[in-house]
Amino acid sequence: MMPRQVCVAGATGYLGSRLIAQLRARSMPVVAILKDRSCEADQQRLNALGATLAFVDASRIESYAQALTGAEIAISCMAFGNVHVDSTNDFWAIDRDANIRFGVEAVRAGAKHVILVATFEGRDSRGLTEFSEAKESAVDAIGAACSPAGVAFTVIRPTAYFSDLTNRAFDSVQQHGRYTVLGDGSHRINPVDGDDVAVFLADCIGNSKKAGREHQIGGPDIFTFREIGLLAAEVIGLPYPLKIRSIPIWSLRFVAAMAAMVGLASPKSRRSAALLRWMIYSSTHDAVAISCGTRRLCDEFRSKRDAPGRAI
Ligand SMILES: NC(=O)c1ccc[n+]([C@@H]2O[C@H](COP(=O)([O-])OP(=O)(O)OC[C@H]3O[C@@H](n4cnc5c(N)ncnc54)[C@H](OP(=O)(O)O)[C@@H]3O)[C@@H](O)[C@H]2O)c1
Repeated sequence: MMPRQVCVAGATGYLGSRLIAQLRARSMPVVAILKDRSCEADQQRLNALGATLAFVDASRIESYAQALTGAEIAISCMAFGNVHVDSTNDFWAIDRDANIRFGVEAVRAGAKHVILVATFEGRDSRGLTEFSEAKESAVDAIGAACSPAGVAFTVIRPTAYFSDLTNRAFDSVQQHGRYTVLGDGSHRINPVDGDDVAVFLADCIGNSKKAGREHQIGGPDIFTFREIGLLAAEVIGLPYPLKIRSIPIWSLRFVAAMAAMVGLASPKSRRSAALLRWMIYSSTHDAVAISCGTRRLCDEFRSKRDAPGRAI
């Protein structure tokens, strides 16, 4: 059955924008929540999709209540931005506090289903890095608000999107003919296209088998981190063997420990230490989940290769 209204926080991000397109393609009524009133391009794109726009800047601790009025389904794809980050918009402020406000206010507004996008490795790494702890605290708090109210709470845990890890790998191979792995690059991952995650998320709506559960999801192909660079080199047709540089994990641990020490006095260093620890964790553990996707990384790389402005 068609939901009354779906409200999406983080509507301008990699996943959020794909999700809005997917929901609108299914003719669902959507309220897209944006942070930035000044970004005309985002507003025009979302307007063209037929979404209603609402504006909440979580770094100013603005309430979601008005945006959530009438929402039957509330979905958060919100995450901190990693640029010009301070205590008002770091992972504590956004991934934890803003997500909790959104989830709790959704329950208060009468939503029947709350969906939060978290990370694949969050639960296992939360004791090791504050970054995961922040996100997992949101999972716990929203779950605690949903449960007594009889609201379904679904947590989606993708491995990694094509946007992030893999596109950075492609750009490095394309622009510099080299690729960097953390550690020996032998750990495995099945990254997933954002459009496939958006389809999975939309499929959770009104689906009693998928709603109210946690889902770890990945893409159709499993790679080691090294193989991602080698795939990029193959697709690009690199005319010489790919140079793969390895950054030893011990050196990252050392830098993280230094940053944590400085972090006793500087929140910025504390944030850096947390993110470094998360990077160490993700590069030293496999992240392989059930495939929800059909879109393949080789095709993503081919379309990047064939896009205008190719460097090699
Ligand atoms: N990237 C990955 O590989 C990966 C893997 C697993 C899980 N995830 C999770 O998947 C979710 C979506 O990730 P993504 O890559 O799509 O993130 P993204 O592209 O960085 O998008 C984040 C969204 O959050 C919004 N946001 C940031 N600060 C805000 C604030 N102060 N107020 C309101 N909104 C704010 C951003 O708005 P602006 O555009 O205006 O900044 C943007 O719409 C996140 O929960 C992430 O942790 C990501």
